[in-house]
Amino acid sequence: MYNFSFHNPTRILFGQGQIAQIGDLIPAAARVLITFGGGSVVRFGILDEVKAALGERFCLEFGAIEPNPSYETLMPAVELIRRNNIDFLLAVGGGSVIDGTKYLAAAACWVGSDPWDILLDGGATVQKALPFGTVLTLPATGSEMNCGAVISRNVTRVALPAANGANAGVSLITKSQHDKLVFSSPRVYPQFSVLDPSKTYTLPAQQTANGIVDAYVHVLEQYLTFPVDAKVQDRFAEGVLLTLKEEGPRVLAEPENYDARANLMWAATMALNGLIGCGVPQDWATHMLGHEVTALHGLDHAQTLAVVLPSLLAAQRDAKRQKLLQYAARIWGLTEGDEQRRIDSAIACTRDFFESLGMKTRLSDYGIGSEALDALVAKLDQHGRYPLGERQDITLERSRAILAAAI
Ligand code: NZQ
Ligand code: ZN
Repeated sequence: MYNFSFHNPTRILFGQGQIAQIGDLIPAAARVLITFGGGSVVRFGILDEVKAALGERFCLEFGAIEPNPSYETLMPAVELIRRNNIDFLLAVGGGSVIDGTKYLAAAACWVGSDPWDILLDGGATVQKALPFGTVLTLPATGSEMNCGAVISRNVTRVALPAANGANAGVSLITKSQHDKLVFSSPRVYPQFSVLDPSKTYTLPAQQTANGIVDAYVHVLEQYLTFPVDAKVQDRFAEGVLLTLKEEGPRVLAEPENYDARANLMWAATMALNGLIGCGVPQDWATHMLGHEVTALHGLDHAQTLAVVLPSLLAAQRDAKRQKLLQYAARIWGLTEGDEQRRIDSAIACTRDFFESLGMKTRLSDYGIGSEALDALVAKLDQHGRYPLGERQDITLERSRAILAAAI
């Protein structure tokens, strides 16, 4: 096992009715900005419940944070925060709202010229952020208990010298950008997160399935690498995988089954709150390839993972051999026969599991063919996404081959 330092400061309030407690966790004099997405929390009454819990506090709202939250959408909220001396943020929604709020927390305190720089250096220079809490409505990303966020930028404004001479000023042109970048900083852990499984009953089946696949792949990114004799981490990871495998189909069949929703919700949080990743090698190549697919083609985050992962496991089967065999045995009960066949079967079982949840596992299912490869690889190159993987052996050429095999 590798050395590690682990500290997770986020308080979790788990269970039905817990929204009522948030008033005790936010200073009475706080000036609060509630952030949310495209309206589900308004339609299903969660926003009203949150506002009731905040009582008489000064409170503003900023909605319309879209899936794959963008710089363009978020920057007006940075202005709103500064203008109104907001000093506490409360995110109510899924991973996109929470990630967007992490960006707001850091951007509002940013002293440099453009807070997009937070993404360009991966969060390394974030010195300060506003405190915030979350009310989670979609179990998937783990953002409610981690310090990472993913922000997209779709267009950039480029200054061009005006044609009639340098002193005549500049004109701006809009250029499409298609960047989806990650930042992380210990300063953007939520102070608290409310996880009420009953608030997830209203999720469309597609979003529930997205959450199951995202959490499953988060575990595999930290588990399916190479062994370092980390038994607790391995068995915790296997416990989360088995829970997702059992409870995922149950939740889809019975959307209002509280216990199944509760197990799914806690599994998704545990999949990416740092615990199972302590002291072990980590991969994350599936995510890096997937982010480029979302940025260029607009697939949901989990849809990209369901497409890339089976192809990546097949390509990396030698480097991952020992853990693939362990995964085959402990998750899929595959203990008999030739090693190569067990690995093939474990990858096929993973693909079948995703398909059984209603997820597609081929780029061609989304109308994406080999004509897309050059642009995807160029973006990986532009973002410095090479080499990737726990052994840093996934070159741009290998990424291209993985994407090609995913068609
Ligand atoms: O916008 P509204 O109207 O609220 O609808 C949302 C949205 O359309 C809907 N929804 C959420 N809760 C609902 C609900 N609908 C009905 N009932 C509810 N209770 O679901 C849709 C998708 O929401 P979104 O927040 O985009 O989904 P998710 O939680 O999967 O988040 C995806 C984002 O998180 C990033 C992804 O890249 C993507 O941008 N990730 C963040 C990570 C992190 N911070 O650690 C790690 C992940 O790997 C991931 O990259
Ligand atoms: Zn993910």
